[in-house]
Amino acid sequence: MKEIIQKDFDIFLGTDVLEKLSEILINNEYSKIFVVMDSNTHKFCWPILSPYIMNYEIIVIPAGEANKTLKYAEIIWAKFQELFADRRAVLINLGGGVISDLGGFCAATYKRGIDFINIPTTLLSMVDASIGGKLGVDFNSLKNVIGVFQNPKYIFINPNFLNTLPQDEKRNGLAEVCKHALIEDKSLFQKLESITSHDWENAGPLIFQSVKIKVAIVKKDPLEKDIRKALNFGHTIGHAIETNSLLNDEVPLKHGEAVAIGIICEAYISKAIMGLSGSELQRITDYFMQRFPKYKGKLNTAKLIEVMKNDKKNREGIINFSLLKKIGKVKIDVNCHDELIEKAINYYKGLPA
Ligand SMILES: NC(=O)c1ccc[n+]([C@@H]2O[C@H](COP(=O)([O-])OP(=O)(O)OC[C@H]3O[C@@H](n4cnc5c(N)ncnc54)[C@H](O)[C@@H]3O)[C@@H](O)[C@H]2O)c1
Repeated sequence: MKEIIQKDFDIFLGTDVLEKLSEILINNEYSKIFVVMDSNTHKFCWPILSPYIMNYEIIVIPAGEANKTLKYAEIIWAKFQELFADRRAVLINLGGGVISDLGGFCAATYKRGIDFINIPTTLLSMVDASIGGKLGVDFNSLKNVIGVFQNPKYIFINPNFLNTLPQDEKRNGLAEVCKHALIEDKSLFQKLESITSHDWENAGPLIFQSVKIKVAIVKKDPLEKDIRKALNFGHTIGHAIETNSLLNDEVPLKHGEAVAIGIICEAYISKAIMGLSGSELQRITDYFMQRFPKYKGKLNTAKLIEVMKNDKKNREGIINFSLLKKIGKVKIDVNCHDELIEKAINYYKGLPA
């Protein structure tokens, strides 16, 4: 088992971490243990976790981003109330980023905050969503617009949960692993280029490397006032595309799929104004185009720019980017003209399917 011990949260990683969870739950003498999960993690992950917990209450919500809403937050809060949860209760979030964002938000706000523990079950949540304390729900079709910062008390990452994760969900997680590599670690990107999402056996060990990058950044800047913005590389355009797709597509893009497009577009902008070389742009483009299908939905630049200007990370309508100077080197707080954003989106549109 590998451990990363921080001032306000601990991360345990390995196939044996659930024994550690058991020990911690007993030692902490919580007054009540709640476990929130979605319909898929109830089916696939709860049977693995349940032998390690005693005296629990489970809350199961339907799977999918469409349920990361105040409606389901109310259902979770109501369950806490109904069962007289006090401030010494704990919530365990068993699932992907939807569950850790939603459950964490409910725990951080109930009675001004109870402990919560993340047990991420998707690659994306193992390397990204479960770490760093950004919690919240989508509101009025805008992603993550209601929320708070609060770290989980513990994170238990057991790669065995990935055994039941569908291939396309693993690929989504790889988009975030790759983002960490692009902003911070050129050699990690080289390793990623040599594996595909089907070649999973070789990708597993990269989780720890990716987790370490995220932890190091959020530790320096927990509230995203400075260097944590680096993690938004690919997400300025990616989030706008994800929001647009949630509104318009019958089968909306997943977070990782939208981020993959965002990374290609923002790499294009990086080449235009930050000195990223043409060959590096090509490598980044190839990496994602070889692994993700070309998006067939509409990309209306004016609408996407409108969403970007509304993003909580931007001020006074100025769109803030984190861009690459080269692979492994990022620069935060860069503005760019709408015309360049349009060119970047057109670059993606022009790529062969
Ligand atoms: N808070 C943050 O810092 C942060 C960072 C990145 C993303 N996010 C958020 O995370 C969410 C995306 O996370 P995600 O990709 O994990 O999505 P998700 O939670 O919806 O999980 C993806 C799908 O996989 C299923 N699933 C999960 N674990 C499984 C398993 N082990 N076996 C089988 N099926 C399983 C889920 O039921 C779901 O259908 C978005 O809402 C995004 O905004 C948050």
